[in-house]
Amino acid sequence: MLTVSNISLRFGKRVLFEDVNLKFTAGNCYGIIGANGAGKSTLVKIIAGEIEPNTGSVDLEPGKRMAVLKQNHFEFDEIPVLQTVLRGHHRLWAIMEEKDALYAKADFSDEDGMRASELESQFAEMDGWNAESDAATLLSNLGIEEAMHEKLMKELSGNQKVRVLLAQALFGNPDVLLMDEPTNDLDVETIRWLEEFLAGFENTVLVVSHDRHFLDNVCTHVCDIDYSRIKIFSGNYTFWYQSSQLALRQRSDQNKKAEEKKKELQEFIARFSADETFIRGFLGRMLFSGEETQKMCNVLSGGEKVRCMLSKMMIENPNVGIFDEPTNHLDLESIQALNNGLMEYAGIVLMHSHDQEVINTVANRIIEITPNGMIDKYMTYEEFAEDEAVQQRRAELYGFAK
Ligand SMILES: Nc1ncnc2c1ncn2[C@@H]1O[C@H](COP(=O)(O)OP(=O)(O)OP(=O)(O)O)[C@@H](O)[C@H]1O
Ligand SMILES: [Mg+2]
Repeated sequence: MLTVSNISLRFGKRVLFEDVNLKFTAGNCYGIIGANGAGKSTLVKIIAGEIEPNTGSVDLEPGKRMAVLKQNHFEFDEIPVLQTVLRGHHRLWAIMEEKDALYAKADFSDEDGMRASELESQFAEMDGWNAESDAATLLSNLGIEEAMHEKLMKELSGNQKVRVLLAQALFGNPDVLLMDEPTNDLDVETIRWLEEFLAGFENTVLVVSHDRHFLDNVCTHVCDIDYSRIKIFSGNYTFWYQSSQLALRQRSDQNKKAEEKKKELQEFIARFSADETFIRGFLGRMLFSGEETQKMCNVLSGGEKVRCMLSKMMIENPNVGIFDEPTNHLDLESIQALNNGLMEYAGIVLMHSHDQEVINTVANRIIEITPNGMIDKYMTYEEFAEDEAVQQRRAELYGFAK
């Protein structure tokens, strides 16, 4: 139903995609995976029509509609909730706006009248009269109560905003739903909720994610981006991972000799590049090299931005580091590297994270802020979660019976 044909794209000298051909079939959920900077977000933007590839085309079956879950949680901050949802259906929203502008004119001409009647008939054809009540129902089904529908987006919590943006993407029941890292910034509970929602969603979904648990729960297929090639595999993430590891082992046995040569070469290069400037080497370790170090920050991928900020922090060599969800956007290998770095770091770390593994291995003091006061304990997160007295106190502070 959705076909990507002969797509190639380069940024400067860097070839991102070379002759990519993909077919996405109705009803499946495709998890798009790949390292930071591999081109996942770019692929989503090409499919959504936001970026023109150098060659090739994207074809959606005629009559089908595609929607994108917005990544920027602040984009609609000044707009009321219900209207944010209505804007998800671009054509319908354009008609509503043009109609309103016409009726607001002081000098309404005959021509305006003709245009208005034309718009009215298109509006009716799209079931425009029911749009507001449909949007309200959708919101309520996603747990956003009616009392909130006229509030501005900025008045909502992060988790509520994500639900509204999801309602926006789902409004008008799109045949294809595109999502780029939808679980970033969500709490565990909302991630579970989104997993369940997607598992029950019957249309086609393309979702970029670095979250293994999430991928395993929602995907029927894995779409792997690796060195400018993209391949689709059936099965969930774990299945893909195990089969690709096996293939890798087989290949590495054959290439033992080549591997030894490569190692020698690497040692040789390492000896001779010891005098490279500190920062360049440093950026290289953070996976920015050559031409990449000259890039403007605004074109960096999500994960590259995080690495760039982490590099900046590390060069400052602070005594205290404050981190708000430091693992967001990072690919699995980088999460492990960051985790190790934080464990070794001798300074004070003040961190907020939903990554349980990182919290368990890094934190020796847990502070939980509740609406009615806080809990502050010198213990690991595991101990915190299991401690009877702590859980009793949590129940009191959150006001649920225990
Ligand atoms: N306009 C641009 N000019 C130059 N390079 C760009 C531009 N846009 C993106 N890039 C580069 O293309 C590569 C792919 O970016 P993209 O955002 O698609 O990565 P990604 O796979 O989504 O990574 P992440 O996991 O970090 O989100 C990155 O190296 C990025 O810096
Ligand atoms: Mg990305």
